[in-house]
Amino acid sequence: MEKIITAIKGVQGWVPEYRLTNDELSKMVDTSDEWIMQRIGIKERRILKEKNKATSDMAAAAIKALLKKTNTDPGNVDLVICATITPDMLFPSTSNLVCYKAGLENAWGYDLLAACSGFMFALETGNRFIQSGLYKKVIVIGADKMSSITDYTDRTTCPLFGDAAAAVLLEPSDDDNGIIDHIFGVDGSGYKYLNLKAGGSLNPASHETVDNKEHFIYQEGQTVFKVAVSKMADVSVEIMKRNNLTSEDISWFVPHQANMRIIEATAKRMNLKKEKVMINIDHYGNTTAATIPLCLWEWEPKLKKGDKIILSAFGGGFTWGSIYLKWAY
Ligand code: UT7
Repeated sequence: MEKIITAIKGVQGWVPEYRLTNDELSKMVDTSDEWIMQRIGIKERRILKEKNKATSDMAAAAIKALLKKTNTDPGNVDLVICATITPDMLFPSTSNLVCYKAGLENAWGYDLLAACSGFMFALETGNRFIQSGLYKKVIVIGADKMSSITDYTDRTTCPLFGDAAAAVLLEPSDDDNGIIDHIFGVDGSGYKYLNLKAGGSLNPASHETVDNKEHFIYQEGQTVFKVAVSKMADVSVEIMKRNNLTSEDISWFVPHQANMRIIEATAKRMNLKKEKVMINIDHYGNTTAATIPLCLWEWEPKLKKGDKIILSAFGGGFTWGSIYLKWAY
């Protein structure tokens, strides 16, 4: 049997309208536009303000627009994998809700939790369902309503995050363009430095967990920063070597958008010119599972068939990884 290659056949993002600027944040906590731009590189982030709207609403909006633009019948979608750390509820899965809200009557789905590497892990998983010959249309989505777990009185975390969703449609490739290789890793001992302490089976929600603000993101920024820089650069360089790619060969690098300094350090280790690096952290911030597909969506008009692209991420867990693919349209 001929080998099936999985291609991304469409990408679509969805962001809320509300822009939370550094100036507005400066009125909420003791910070400044200058500090945030220098240390992180974010100017504004989008926040889902509407009441009773959650991660699944952003995801469903992205999927509906994706199906429209790719002329895909919702009834033909086989599977939805939703990467998120901010599910609407602990159960049912956000993916279930998304299938319902986007009218995907014949699809099944599940959530995948790998924090900022979530989209990457989900993309590789979706790839395997296509590659096996089992399915013809798989949607992989990264979606996070980070504002729902952000403490807007904590200046060390509240400037970092934004809300967004972005989805890709996977189908068998018509040629040799598509997903080629991946390198992934996890290190559970890193859980101490970046987590959400309560609401799970370890520390169920209680008055005490609420009083202690344990339903918000906890991060030891400097430690995470150091590991992120080394892991993201290592894995990006490794995937280049393994596929005999020089910096000249690479058309685009799509890094997770956590900190401008991490992106620059990684690109430097890869010996890449800045023009080849997709960066939108300045206007969307860190949208966790959504950053990478959100970049692909924004850059989609510039992408050409056959473009050699490397995706890389590092996130809570710790989790990290790189994917090498050739753009298919
Ligand atoms: O996406 C998942 C993975 N996450 C990451 O990759 C994030 C990795 N970490 C980072 O990006 C950075 O560590 C941060 C952006 C979170 C923080 O930057 P930093 O350069 O590591 O700052 P720091 O935590 O070492 O803090 C330096 C100083 C401290 O003051 P003192 O102790 O030197 O007086 C902080 O209190 O900056 C202070 N500070 C702030 N000042 C103004 C911390 N946050 C702020 C703020 N505004 N928002």
